[in-house]
Amino acid sequence: MAFINENYLKLKAGYLFPEIGRRVREFAAAYPDKDIIRMGIGDVTQPLTPTILKAFHDGVEELGNKNTFKGYGPEQGYDFLREAIALNDYQQRGVEISADEIFVSDGSKCDTGNIQEIFGDKNIIAICDPVYPVYADTTVMSGKTGECQSNGYFDNIVYMPCNEANGFIPELPVTRPDLIFLCFPNNPTGTVATRAILKTWVDYAIANKSIILYDAAYEAYITDDSIPHSIFEIEGARNVAIEFRSFSKTAGFTGTRCAFTVIPNELFAYDEQGNQVAVKPLWMRRHTTKFNGVSYPVQKAAAAIYSDEGKKEIKGLIRYYLENARLIRESLTEAGYTVFGGINAPYVWVKTKNNLTSWEFFDKLLNETNVVGTPGSGFGPSGEGYFRFSAFADRDKVIKAMERIKNISY
Ligand code: MLT
Repeated sequence: MAFINENYLKLKAGYLFPEIGRRVREFAAAYPDKDIIRMGIGDVTQPLTPTILKAFHDGVEELGNKNTFKGYGPEQGYDFLREAIALNDYQQRGVEISADEIFVSDGSKCDTGNIQEIFGDKNIIAICDPVYPVYADTTVMSGKTGECQSNGYFDNIVYMPCNEANGFIPELPVTRPDLIFLCFPNNPTGTVATRAILKTWVDYAIANKSIILYDAAYEAYITDDSIPHSIFEIEGARNVAIEFRSFSKTAGFTGTRCAFTVIPNELFAYDEQGNQVAVKPLWMRRHTTKFNGVSYPVQKAAAAIYSDEGKKEIKGLIRYYLENARLIRESLTEAGYTVFGGINAPYVWVKTKNNLTSWEFFDKLLNETNVVGTPGSGFGPSGEGYFRFSAFADRDKVIKAMERIKNISY
């Protein structure tokens, strides 16, 4: 008899984005003539830029030539990419991270979920509410939680409500967590954390021997120079943090797949006897056992982002999406909505009108305007009554969507 992992049975609904996709497919099947505008999942729409595309092609060509063909690559990623990341994303910003602390992977979604595997079941995890649902779902799957309560919270997770009152910035938890997920710029609220806020968290983690799992997948959208792009800009973070970064939203790699995780050499956790154990070798062991690396052409393409031309092109992409975010923010504000985020992030977080629940607003929007967004409650109970618009759509569609929303009736 085969036994299942019963932790999966604790998960109440399907994963958020496939669930939205299902509802939209049903709507499209019922009304095939409707012009649906998708601003739900944060999936990029602009093509890979010329420099990146050329590097990608060159990589493919190399694989077709006997003299340059490559089989398995290093599981941790090719040196040329890890060195480019260390130099451009860290050292040139005055942050001490070396190539040997970087693990190239096929996505931050996978990494933020998989990282749990190297930490014991007894760890108490702290999660912002609302936040990217992968953190809570994978905590449940990994067996670190109890059942889901009627308020939507799982037992044994420390939830940190993020709301208008605290500016969508989590407060330090009363119950001491072992692992703390933080995500800035935040998905879904678009909030950023100042240096002072991050310092508070790093100090808290040091004092409590906790580890911060810092998801910085949207750091490229930071427009304010005073906002840190990396947790490692904060003194002491090398001892208490892991950082996740992605090329998905930075350079249009959602379909291509390429990301990386940074684990400093000085990061330690503890065994049952209280002995310090270095974290990086454990992740290396997992990575080399379960992963055979990102394909060579994709890594070549990713490295091209760090060339002078690549950097310029990527900035153009980010400007495009941030301009979309501005249009969304301003149009919705004009239409009388209370709006957050969208300045240092590609997500605009909106309060629904007339106390509609997030899913009621989703249905209203879909039915009356054929615009798709993401219900805030899908990111956690404190997201109820809010709605997330992604700025990754084509410009003309953003404009059309905003026109339609202005005319919505209440
Ligand atoms: C989102 O819409 O929140 C993201 O696209 C999901 C992801 O990056 O996996």
